[in-house]
Amino acid sequence: TSNAMWGGRFAEGPSAVMREINASLPFDKRMWQQDIAGSKAHVAMLGRQGIVAEADAAAIAAGLDGVAAGYAADGVPDDLALEDIHMLTEARLAEAIGPAAGRLHTARSRNDQVATDFRLWVRDAIDQTLAALDAFRSALLSRADEHADAVMPGFTHLQSAQPVTLGHHLMAYVEMASRDVSRFRDARARMNLCPLGSAALAGTGFPIDRHATAAALGFDGPTRNSLDAVSDRDFAIDYLAAAAQCALHLSRLAEEFVLWASQPFGFVALSDQWSTGSSIMPQKRNPDAAELVRGHAGRITGCLVSLMVTMKGLPLAYSKDMQDDKPPVFECHDLLGLSIAAMTGMVESATFRTDRMRALAESGFATATDLADWLVREAGLPFREAHHVTGRAVARAEALGVGLDRLPLADLQAIHPAITEAVYDVLSVDASVASRTSFGGTAPANVRAAIAAARATLEAK
Ligand code: ARG
Repeated sequence: TSNAMWGGRFAEGPSAVMREINASLPFDKRMWQQDIAGSKAHVAMLGRQGIVAEADAAAIAAGLDGVAAGYAADGVPDDLALEDIHMLTEARLAEAIGPAAGRLHTARSRNDQVATDFRLWVRDAIDQTLAALDAFRSALLSRADEHADAVMPGFTHLQSAQPVTLGHHLMAYVEMASRDVSRFRDARARMNLCPLGSAALAGTGFPIDRHATAAALGFDGPTRNSLDAVSDRDFAIDYLAAAAQCALHLSRLAEEFVLWASQPFGFVALSDQWSTGSSIMPQKRNPDAAELVRGHAGRITGCLVSLMVTMKGLPLAYSKDMQDDKPPVFECHDLLGLSIAAMTGMVESATFRTDRMRALAESGFATATDLADWLVREAGLPFREAHHVTGRAVARAEALGVGLDRLPLADLQAIHPAITEAVYDVLSVDASVASRTSFGGTAPANVRAAIAAARATLEAK
């Protein structure tokens, strides 16, 4: 039999494969709440405008509440013949209230309906992500505060470079997460216009009030061009791009946790709750959650690419390709939600081995730059010469098997006579980090100020 909603011109129904390829219900049912909300706003407006009799509008609104209650109680069935959540809801409404249900779709198309539902869904997804990122930033801030002056090796090329503090290192991720927050907020602000009333593509001749439906759904106003409104998926791409960038940041932190939890580093012990064992090697404590956060960043990036490629060749206005917009967005939201929650949990519960960090910071000649800077400042050497002298000091210390701060003064003076006892003041890792007082530098006082500032913005928002 032909389709109940659009089958008027058809003698035969679709083939089974046609039905299956066409159906979005198995995934778009995730938008049922947004679909009900959109329909209720629409029918209330139709009633107020006298486009539908007030009695019918009231019956439809009550019927939609009943359909929603049914979905909430029993879930949304995968009735493929009904294609999508929009037609399923309308069919359920008809079962509940009879022919008046047929008036709901006046002055509306599934094209503006789905564009509206999807914007509402992405807006909710952004709000959930923002809340999760606040919890993530709070976790980083408390651990950074705890370790504001814990010295660790800072790396470039993954080679010991200069000492930094663990607090400073963790605060770098607060900066990244804060930019992610601003990208999500930006995407949310830009997308918050309502497509409803654009109808199929050209608008409608019915005297609708688009400002009213936009306001009822929490939008800042209606979209300005009906063709654009039904074919725009930028809002979803903006969301995916922000999500991909956020996932990429989480992935870098996850990678550091994997590295730090390895025996050669030994910088961190993940809590039992965030570790997994091996079925063969009893000693194992694997950082699987961190590895999966790193893995998920790849899939999330794939979601962004998927929708961009879907959209790139589509002429205006709606094409059915656009139905493929939802799976990558839903997948992204699930993966990102898990990733943020997992990193938050790992950060909150990890034990940082600050003794080990300090030992490695002291062993890598990480204060060599401090020695060179001292030679410039106190002995008046040009930096290039100071660099060379320091290189010889490092070689000597390496030969003796000691750190720079344990290299005897006689050895230092043999390399350059201007070196005095006072040089030892700058050769400890604590002196090194304490000296980095330039704005944004790793000195513990700076790190504490950065934490206070970040807390203030987090609380102010
Ligand atoms: N299920 C469709 C989607 O997600 C709804 C819009 C269908 N519109 C249409 N003209 N066939 O894109």
